[in-house]
Amino acid sequence: MALEKLPIPEKRLLIVWWSYTGGTESLVQAAARGATEAGRQAASAAFGDRLPDSAESQSGLSVMACRCDLVATEALLHADALLFATPECLGSMAGPMKTFFDCNYYPALDRLNARPYATLICAGTDGHGAARQIDRIAAGWRLKSIAKPLIVLTGAQTPEAISAPKQIGPAELARAAELGGLLAAGTLLGVW
Ligand SMILES: Cc1cc2nc3c(=O)[nH]c(=O)nc-3n(C[C@H](O)[C@H](O)[C@H](O)COP(=O)(O)O)c2cc1C
Repeated sequence: MALEKLPIPEKRLLIVWWSYTGGTESLVQAAARGATEAGRQAASAAFGDRLPDSAESQSGLSVMACRCDLVATEALLHADALLFATPECLGSMAGPMKTFFDCNYYPALDRLNARPYATLICAGTDGHGAARQIDRIAAGWRLKSIAKPLIVLTGAQTPEAISAPKQIGPAELARAAELGGLLAAGTLLGVW
């Protein structure tokens, strides 16, 4: 008996990010690729040949990476899952990322409860201060953490190294892709 092709519910993964010298941005691109791929695989495993024919709805998951100064509150409120990605600067998240949270914290309070999130930090030698800050804000929003923050170190410490464009190695890009994939697949399958 042929199964009817059912519409797959569309879930939205929003990646909110900032980057000064390209390190976080590369990691975000890897996470978005990992999320898109995992979304496709999870949908195929869950829905099999009941997937609709149209190519754009093969996954049921839309992945949007948006620089934090361009994120509209509506996009935040409509996200089913969130990935926050920022460099660590002076022991905290980057200023524009903090501004994103300042501007959206109260508009989104009690409106994001229980949605899954993950954090990606690109730092010179530490990264834990930025990760802690985001975890505290996420706890205020009552988001659900799905993994330990992924902290990628570039080793930059001197003024020259800090201001240089960052190259992220394949192993770290793979870890970012894996984190994006985990968040995407779990969101699509409703496991969080
Ligand atoms: C003003 C400034 C402050 C920084 N402070 C820290 C810090 O407190 N801890 C740390 O590990 N890295 C620190 N860094 C290094 C950055 O986190 C690192 O260069 C990171 O790779 C930048 O990410 P991006 O390439 O996405 O901009 C600082 C960089 C800048 C520009």
